[in-house]
Amino acid sequence: MRIGIAGLGTVGSCVYAILKDKGDEIEKRSGRKCIVSKVITRTHSKYDKLGIPSDLVAEDFEDLIINSDIVVETIGGSEAARKLVKQSLELNRTVVTANKMLISEFGNEFMNSSPIKSLFFEAAVGGGIPIISLLEDYLIFHGIKRIRGILNGTTNFILSEMQKGMDYASALKIAQEKGYAEADPTSDVKGYDAAYKLSVLTGVKTGVFPGISTIETKGIEGIDKSDLERAATAGKKLKLIGTIDFEREVASVQPQEIERNDPLWSVDGVENAIEVETDLSGRFILRGEGAGAQPTATAIISDILRASRYAEKQSNSVVIMKFGGTSVDSAEKIKDVAERVQKKVLSGVKPVIVVSAMGVETDKLHELAKEISSKPNGREMDMLLATGEQKSIALVAMAIQELGMKSISL
Ligand code: HSE
Repeated sequence: MRIGIAGLGTVGSCVYAILKDKGDEIEKRSGRKCIVSKVITRTHSKYDKLGIPSDLVAEDFEDLIINSDIVVETIGGSEAARKLVKQSLELNRTVVTANKMLISEFGNEFMNSSPIKSLFFEAAVGGGIPIISLLEDYLIFHGIKRIRGILNGTTNFILSEMQKGMDYASALKIAQEKGYAEADPTSDVKGYDAAYKLSVLTGVKTGVFPGISTIETKGIEGIDKSDLERAATAGKKLKLIGTIDFEREVASVQPQEIERNDPLWSVDGVENAIEVETDLSGRFILRGEGAGAQPTATAIISDILRASRYAEKQSNSVVIMKFGGTSVDSAEKIKDVAERVQKKVLSGVKPVIVVSAMGVETDKLHELAKEISSKPNGREMDMLLATGEQKSIALVAMAIQELGMKSISL
């Protein structure tokens, strides 16, 4: 399986390192060989820093996509990431991403563009907590009534530090130094990051990603030490809680006071926890590292392994392309055919091309035969008519070879 990685920030470079260092172990345990075939990043100094050989560096997104079966998007943000994911799906590649904003806001567009499962995003919610695959696979026949949790490590860390007496600004600074916060912490502290995650979870359950405009969102910026002290005096803790109630069809992210008997009570620091309420298995909770390079990269690797089952099917698929006489009745048209074939090859499938004889060639051969015999011998007629296709298949094969691809006429 060829893996292309776009974006070599904290998470992307960790994915690269795991695939490089643990490739043999992954193959032994999963039966799948995953090699990094191309990488691309904006900060070119990263290539040297990570010791990436120059032949692995992609010229552009297209070069990365064409040379990969699975594209890992760890660029972050929305513009470039959206372009990469869209182009990858159009070229029938499988995409693995950790980008919750991208899935929350453009998930519907991506899902519609691909008929089979081509987009994997376990790492987008809860870092190393396998909540997405749980909802998609294990809980598929359960009625999920409610999801509630601490979905943002940065704000949970900040609130936990403030609980111990630190002020907001100092706690935020430490969160940034520890690499928990996104490059721009606005999304974390305003609650948007948690809202994106709720939108992603909603999409997994319902098939439609609502986006965050439908989610009532309040962050932790307005909170000061006195709010936490007041909560503590009342025997409570203040946490940023995300809730989706599928029965009432409401979702919100807001700071809430919780009591000691709440399962989220002891979830402190950068940890995340997600409580799922179902009709068949009641209520359970998943808890773990919701942010940071290793947990997020590990979720990406797990997605690569899940995705490889689909990508394998895709890359083995054969498509038959048929071009009639008028589509091949000049050299120019034959060159157009070759370009259409090239597009298919780039999309990852293997085309078998069937062509007719050029233009009205077959009619002409019929007429020629009639001038010789009113009842021509069947075998000889086949020999004669096949010469029309002999010409076109050889010319189409040559045109494809001219574009730098292998082809043979049969
Ligand atoms: N900034 C996010 C968090 C990163 O703190 O949870 C993981 O999504």
